[in-house]
Amino acid sequence: MTANPPEHTGRRDLDPHLARYAARTAGMTASEIRALFAVASRPEVVSLAGGMPNLAALPLDSLSSQVGEIIAEDGLVALQYGSAQGVPVLREQICEVMAMEGINAHSDDVVVTVGSQMGLDMVTRLFCDPGDVVLAEGPSYVGALGSFAAYQAKVVHVVMDDQGLVPEALREALAAAERAGQRVKFLYTIPNFHNPAGVTLAVERRAEILAICRAHGVLVVEDNPYGLLGFDGQTYPALRSLDPDNVVYLGSFSKTFASGLRVGWVLAPHAVREKLVLAAESATLCPPSLNQMIVSRYLATHDWKGQIKTFRENYRERRDAMLSALEQHLPSGCSWTNPDGGFYVWVTVPEGVDTKAMLPRAVTARVAYASGTGFYADGFGSRQMRLSYCYPTPERIKEGVRRLAAVLESEMDLVRTFGNVSMRAIPGPETPSPDTA
Ligand SMILES: Cc1ncc(COP(=O)(O)O)c(C=O)c1O
Repeated sequence: MTANPPEHTGRRDLDPHLARYAARTAGMTASEIRALFAVASRPEVVSLAGGMPNLAALPLDSLSSQVGEIIAEDGLVALQYGSAQGVPVLREQICEVMAMEGINAHSDDVVVTVGSQMGLDMVTRLFCDPGDVVLAEGPSYVGALGSFAAYQAKVVHVVMDDQGLVPEALREALAAAERAGQRVKFLYTIPNFHNPAGVTLAVERRAEILAICRAHGVLVVEDNPYGLLGFDGQTYPALRSLDPDNVVYLGSFSKTFASGLRVGWVLAPHAVREKLVLAAESATLCPPSLNQMIVSRYLATHDWKGQIKTFRENYRERRDAMLSALEQHLPSGCSWTNPDGGFYVWVTVPEGVDTKAMLPRAVTARVAYASGTGFYADGFGSRQMRLSYCYPTPERIKEGVRRLAAVLESEMDLVRTFGNVSMRAIPGPETPSPDTA
């Protein structure tokens, strides 16, 4: 008897392995952003959706000769397994990087990770049992929400305003969780140049937020990949610098050097660090030796602070293009944040417009954005969208916003005529033609 050939339908309900998956996989769904990536990366579409750093300013020639030198001089180390905690000299250099935001750390307490995304995964793995509560800003970083979902943690969002997380809202969230008998494990926060909200936690609020968490016995997980990308070169005191014993700090070279190297780190209170090393070991044995050595040599031999300044200037130019285009083109009733660093603007559209429902029409009009619901664990965010200015040129950004504004205008017309349009299938314009803009 011949076996039936396997069916590759791609449909979840026909997945023959469905009954085998662990319960925790129920929370693992493709993020809206990832689902969009394939379409949004077509050349004719101006993508304001992704968060890819603009690497064009990197000194590729000298980097390539340095990679060659590392292999020629130290190849047997660079291509070998290394320590689970990471290359010691790099951990020391990481302490120098963190000192720029006021952190006084010992390299023993640093664990190198495969991007800070791995740090997020490990921290959640260490602290969260199914049903435990994680407090996070609303909106929050989509990759963090993915990690929390993968460990079946329940996310409770805490409101932000243009000064970042609102301390009173944090108090209320903690009190509500206590009344409901829930165990809050940590506050996950992105204090600087927030992804996706584009706001920064006011310096005056920092000590207060730390004190609230301490009083409630809640750890703080500070995620800070953008902290050195303030457009005026400004930095803010890291939460970790203000309360070293109650903050786990996540850092990354993805936005200040090269995201593809996947080198990030966790700085943790000493006891937590030991557990983190064990968790890291079970995930990857050790982070990639060669990539760590590339980062280490780059920090030792390049003017890396000058390079960050160049990145900041590029991003500032793009931010300016984005904000002036929003001002010029977006219909009245829209509002947006005003980032002074980082990659993102968070836009709120008029009532009745659903950014998720509008997205296919925007892509048809050759512009993509990330709709707001992906940044909430509770379905909120349908009137919001994240626009990234990090990657496209200023001209493309302007063109993208012009296209987006036209889509929004016609969406608002429909709302005025028919009410909420989110449930209706509305055919978009014709298939995109090659982008000549
Ligand atoms: C807030 C935040 N945390 C973590 C990450 C993950 O960064 P990495 O490339 O270091 O894994 C990102 C990437 O966009 C981010 O925006």
